[in-house]
Amino acid sequence: MAKLVLENVTKQYGAFTAVKDFSLVVSDGEFVSLLGPSGCGKTTLLRSIAGFFPITQGRILSGEKVISDPARNIYLGPDQRNLGMVFQSYAVWPHMSVFDNIAYPLKLRKLSRQDINAKVGRVLSMLNLETQAQKKPSELSGGQQQRTALGRALVMEPDALLLDEPLSNLDAKLRDRMRFELKEIQRTLNLTIVYVTHDQDESMAVSDRIVLMNQGQIQQVASPREMFDFPARLFSARFVGQSNVLDGVLSKIDAVSGTAYLTADKDTTVPLQLSQRHEGDQIGKHPGEGQSVHAVIRYHNVKIADRADTDTIEGTVIVGTYLGIYTQYEVETVLGRIIVQTDADKRLQERQQVFLKLRNVHVFPAE
Ligand SMILES: Nc1ncnc2c1ncn2[C@@H]1O[C@H](COP(=O)(O)OP(=O)(O)OP(=O)(O)O)[C@@H](O)[C@H]1O
Ligand SMILES: [Mg+2]
Repeated sequence: MAKLVLENVTKQYGAFTAVKDFSLVVSDGEFVSLLGPSGCGKTTLLRSIAGFFPITQGRILSGEKVISDPARNIYLGPDQRNLGMVFQSYAVWPHMSVFDNIAYPLKLRKLSRQDINAKVGRVLSMLNLETQAQKKPSELSGGQQQRTALGRALVMEPDALLLDEPLSNLDAKLRDRMRFELKEIQRTLNLTIVYVTHDQDESMAVSDRIVLMNQGQIQQVASPREMFDFPARLFSARFVGQSNVLDGVLSKIDAVSGTAYLTADKDTTVPLQLSQRHEGDQIGKHPGEGQSVHAVIRYHNVKIADRADTDTIEGTVIVGTYLGIYTQYEVETVLGRIIVQTDADKRLQERQQVFLKLRNVHVFPAE
């Protein structure tokens, strides 16, 4: 069942278009994240859904109910939408206890004391905050403050939760834990969540689907695995995952072996092992022989071979960086520097000659 429907939503600030022709259906119980670089329109879109301002064009529905439709002069304010929102700077009231913070929206709606106690009690227990109920926010950890803000949004039993970078104020360890907690709460309560982040790891960790945005427009909508393994366009491949990008002309493609040859200049042609998806070509038009392309290779898809072969390119190790679970090397090749991630126990020396295999390469038409 659809919980939120966005149809061709456009939002302009004066002459500037912050969100353009954006369409998306969020299902009941789905965790969707809006991912994209700073300024791409994520907060604008979330606030359009929350009803902080009217949109310029398009329609927004919550379930079956139209909540924004400028063409028909429909615009419901935030308090008429029954959507919960949590901001980056959680905005909990510093002078109120945890209990009172969570009870606040219910008091505004003039619920009875008995109802308030019951509802707040349920949320406190759900979020593991019972023992903190009488504390002020200044006496809480970052994670507890964050859960208080979440509690205040949840206590209204919203149709969907809209979260705008809710974990960005937390340190890295706590943020990791809160991702799991949030996901668990979402699963347990079957919540529908639209979650804004500019952090690709975060969106991969929490989402059922990622909506990748750039300059107010959708670039790709996919599950985290699909987004990572089969980026539909250059922007996706560069934004999600760490990649080398090599430019050249596809001089030859051997469809049987999945090998392509990239020619950078008249003296330089290198072999690439194409990614699965591009052999079958299910997304869009796959570049053909003679076309100028960007070839994208994830750091971990560059393999180090023992000796030269028909599918290797030669390089020289410039510098290595030990990063715990892997070591990252910069290798100088005829195509410039290529970054390689290897097992941490694979030791290469500076100036050492190596042979690289470029695997699982995604190619996109040059822009
Ligand atoms: N009230 C406003 N008036 C004019 N322009 C605005 C307004 N709010 C946002 N913008 C512009 O709209 C664009 C999108 O802003 P938005 O806040 O939606 O980005 P974002 O994706 O949330 O970025 P971030 O990751 O930095 O939070 C930006 O270029 C911003 O400058
Ligand atoms: Mg924002």
